[in-house]
Amino acid sequence: MAIRSLAYVVVDTADVEAWRAYGENVLGMQAIDHDGGLRLRMDERPFRMLIRKGDGERFHAAGLVYPDKAAFDRGIAGLRDAGVAVEPASADEAKDRHVVEFVRCADPSGNRLEIGWGRVVDGDPFVSPAGVPEFVTGEMGMGHVVLPAAKLAETRAFYIELLGFGDTDEMRVYMQGGPDDPGLGLHFLHCDNPRHHSVALAEFPVPSGLVHMMVEVPGLDDVGRALDRAKAAGVHISSSLGKHMNDKMVSFYMRSPGGFDIEYGFGGIQPDWNSFTPTISIKEDEWGHQWDFGG
Ligand SMILES: [Fe+2]
Repeated sequence: MAIRSLAYVVVDTADVEAWRAYGENVLGMQAIDHDGGLRLRMDERPFRMLIRKGDGERFHAAGLVYPDKAAFDRGIAGLRDAGVAVEPASADEAKDRHVVEFVRCADPSGNRLEIGWGRVVDGDPFVSPAGVPEFVTGEMGMGHVVLPAAKLAETRAFYIELLGFGDTDEMRVYMQGGPDDPGLGLHFLHCDNPRHHSVALAEFPVPSGLVHMMVEVPGLDDVGRALDRAKAAGVHISSSLGKHMNDKMVSFYMRSPGGFDIEYGFGGIQPDWNSFTPTISIKEDEWGHQWDFGG
């Protein structure tokens, strides 16, 4: 049984106020004070981004959920059988995450995961302070994360064989170019929902701990307004508007206070996995997405 969705992310920061301003004014999420940090809401759930007060800027963990306890128990038993160190979280920690229970572990490249089941909803409506009508979430989860994976093949096998993910697409990117550049591998993986990829793995190290995360809004206007807000706030635009080859997402990328990028897009395809053949893309984009790594 596969993971159902990417339910949330956990980010550590020394600058909670920077995240509050960015979360509300740029992303358009709803910030709620929590334990010295913030919960950022994107929908009816109590949070989708947990911003914890820490001593530096770092992506801490991706929160994955199984659909129910039976699937969770089987999945965790499989991790243990494979020799993965699994640390159960306390009941208080689970309450804090609004799941019934969860465990901590790491993938073979060292990315920290929280794997749980049973999301608690509080029924409060989502009200965006920036007028975002809604984020595309629900059973598709909060979006996707692209994790650094120095041990690319081993890490892909971990998600596929132990957590039930499937291949959606793979590609190689050539940062240096030239005939001697072997390129760097990227794997795009889906779990048990129609989102094109919930986790992607990139064969390069990233100091912030995350290559990027993506949130999706319903339409082009919502992306354009976010781009206006980002520019007005002086946020570094890491990539211009563009359309990806593989998931057809029209998006731009911007730097977050955590040092990693956030992709803000709309229109991602939602394949039917029963009739889908994984693709191997030899081009990253249909148009756009000009990168600016400075800033
Ligand atoms: Fe992305």
